[in-house]
Amino acid sequence: MDEQHRGRPIAHSRVTLSKIMTAVDVNLYGTVHGGVLMKFVDDVAGAAAARHSGGTAVTAAIDEIVFLQPVRVGDLVHAYAQVNWTGRSSMEVGVKLTAEPWDAVGATPIPVATAYLVFVAVDVAGNPRRVPPVLLDDPEDQRRFREAMIRRDHRLARRRAIRKARSEHHRIDD
Ligand SMILES: CC(C)(COP(=O)(O)OP(=O)(O)OC[C@H]1O[C@@H](n2cnc3c(N)ncnc32)[C@H](O)[C@@H]1OP(=O)(O)O)[C@@H](O)C(=O)NCCC(=O)NCCS
Repeated sequence: MDEQHRGRPIAHSRVTLSKIMTAVDVNLYGTVHGGVLMKFVDDVAGAAAARHSGGTAVTAAIDEIVFLQPVRVGDLVHAYAQVNWTGRSSMEVGVKLTAEPWDAVGATPIPVATAYLVFVAVDVAGNPRRVPPVLLDDPEDQRRFREAMIRRDHRLARRRAIRKARSEHHRIDD
């Protein structure tokens, strides 16, 4: 059986990106703009999804992005991503950002943000395509997989509830 059917270990999808924040990245308060960090999160997550799925994958949803600490100009920010869960064509990617303060590079990096994103693998026509299942190697991966399933259930339930509310709203308008 090939990898596409047998599955790929989570380690296969792991990606780390690092970059130094500069003056163009700041907001009006002088700290790094949340949008700059969100793009960094999306970039690293996209790389993990592409690795796991072996091709193009698009961002379908971003949720639970949490900013834990402000980031400053000169800080060295590391982004870690891995595929936590796979469905038929969708994948949940977990991302963690840490920062080494500019005046203490080499010190233990501090966590500055976490996020969960859903990517969908697509073919050349942009239609969803099947992804290999993730193979869970250790208890941490198994925990992340279980938590990702809970988030997926919540996402789908929220989507269903919103669609239902919208259709009821339109029925009232009719
Ligand atoms: C994401 C996209 C390919 C899904 O296409 P679609 O025809 O709606 O696909 P389906 O309804 O068949 O769903 C495909 C999968 O995506 C999942 N999915 C789709 N929208 C989702 C959402 N908002 N949240 C979570 N999962 C979602 C479905 O649950 C399904 O998962 P599964 O195959 O693992 O069971 C399509 O909506 C799209 O192209 N969106 C734009 C993406 C984009 O431009 N991103 C920004 C730049 S990368």
